[in-house]
Amino acid sequence: MDKIIYAAQLQYLSQFKNQNDKLITEMEKFAKEHNVPILSWQAAAFLEVLIKMVNPKRVLEIGTAIAYSSIRIARNLKKKGVVHTIEKSKDNIVLAKGYIKKSGVEEKIKIMEGNAFEIMPELEKKYDFIFLDADKNEYSRLFQLSVPLLKKGGVIFVDNLLWGGNTAADKVPPKLQASTEFIRKFNKEFIADPRIKAVIIPVGDGLGIGVKN
Ligand SMILES: C[S@@+](CC[C@H](N)C(=O)[O-])C[C@H]1O[C@@H](n2cnc3c(N)ncnc32)[C@H](O)[C@@H]1O
Repeated sequence: MDKIIYAAQLQYLSQFKNQNDKLITEMEKFAKEHNVPILSWQAAAFLEVLIKMVNPKRVLEIGTAIAYSSIRIARNLKKKGVVHTIEKSKDNIVLAKGYIKKSGVEEKIKIMEGNAFEIMPELEKKYDFIFLDADKNEYSRLFQLSVPLLKKGGVIFVDNLLWGGNTAADKVPPKLQASTEFIRKFNKEFIADPRIKAVIIPVGDGLGIGVKN
């Protein structure tokens, strides 16, 4: 990630990372040791503030992994707020359930087990906030499924749009070329979509934020 912007500034800002939460620190350690991709701490901290600002009642997350972001979202919702989070990996679902149990916000998080492509078209009620964080080659198609599920004025939040710096790089490692091309194409679609007002910002691994018109 240091490749992305200003290593010295990022280093300076790292002192402001909140490290006081035992469960969150344990999950970050687990994710690092087991190569589970989760939001960077900068993006997660930003997401928490955004959740407080938007105050969504219904949040849809596409890509739970171990529920790191689900828990951080749920903890910042008001009393009646809920997170519905979609995950297809059985192994990740087991891990996510274990962490959710310890989170203190179990009643706010519902895991929808299965493939987002099958689950999303069946969803009837719209959402105030959608967090898209699944496989990068599926971003465009999942975005197309997301927009109709978003209420007017609702927010869509997308991670990894700088893809470790690769979307902006001249030379991309061979094994990341296909995923980088998918994200580059997605970024153009996201910004040009007339249904949302969107921006991409260099926080964490690059965040897309859009508000539905
Ligand atoms: C980047 S991780 C999610 C990280 C999580 N949002 C966080 O920040 O803590 C992506 C997850 O999406 C899941 N996933 C990818 N494509 C999916 C799909 N089509 N349907 C359901 N889950 C999917 C993967 O199994 C993986 O666990």
